[in-house]
Amino acid sequence: MHVDVQLLPCAPEPASLSTRSVVVFDILRATSSIVHAFANGAKEFIPVGTVEEAFQMKKAFLPETTLLGGEKDTQRIEGFDLTNSPREYAAERVKGKRVILRTTNGSQAFRLVSAGKEIMVGSFFNIGATADRCTRLGLDVLAFPSGDEGVLSLEDTVCSGMLIDRIVQKAKGPVSMTDASQAALILFKRFEANLVEAFHLSHHGNKLIRLGLADDLPYCAQVDLFPLVPVFREGVIRMDWNAE
Ligand code: MLT
Repeated sequence: MHVDVQLLPCAPEPASLSTRSVVVFDILRATSSIVHAFANGAKEFIPVGTVEEAFQMKKAFLPETTLLGGEKDTQRIEGFDLTNSPREYAAERVKGKRVILRTTNGSQAFRLVSAGKEIMVGSFFNIGATADRCTRLGLDVLAFPSGDEGVLSLEDTVCSGMLIDRIVQKAKGPVSMTDASQAALILFKRFEANLVEAFHLSHHGNKLIRLGLADDLPYCAQVDLFPLVPVFREGVIRMDWNAE
């Protein structure tokens, strides 16, 4: 199995994705919120690019079935039901609901990798289950850190390194790595004992602290809370319960 990390969040060549598993990470906070919501019974997520697209799409569904979630510049969006804090995606809010999600990086990332053979939603919450799924599928893997408005993000790269570490531990055969995978693995080892330290060094972690959202940092650093892996197919993120 060959494992790579897309260190900069730009669209990979679609042909290079068609035979690979892709794992999208936006630890602070989109993919953490998505995983958290499915653990609390959410039905599906539709990631969209803009606030206007989210309002427009909501009109296609019965109002009681669908929530709008996300952020603009990390802040609550006027008229949306939920922000992008995983702590808001509790069962009382999301059980049985569809969420149309607009965020700055995470909701955009799914479109960039939509040519992937299997596209998974990764976070610290479900890192073990995600590594299991990658090794079970046996395809080459691309970890896709969503980054921070086009540049590398420390927390997404550290989590990509943790995925690689787990895959190496679980894989039956040899795992080959690119320099990017080696770099992510080394970064993960540096912060393994204190993941929140990486969040405190990161640009987006500091922005959340400045905006009074510091509680999201230790919350998103919890490892292996949920043994589930949401999957993005044809524009929608759902649980594939048959594969769990
Ligand atoms: C994003 O998608 O850029 C983030 O999740 C932003 C955030 O939650 O603050």
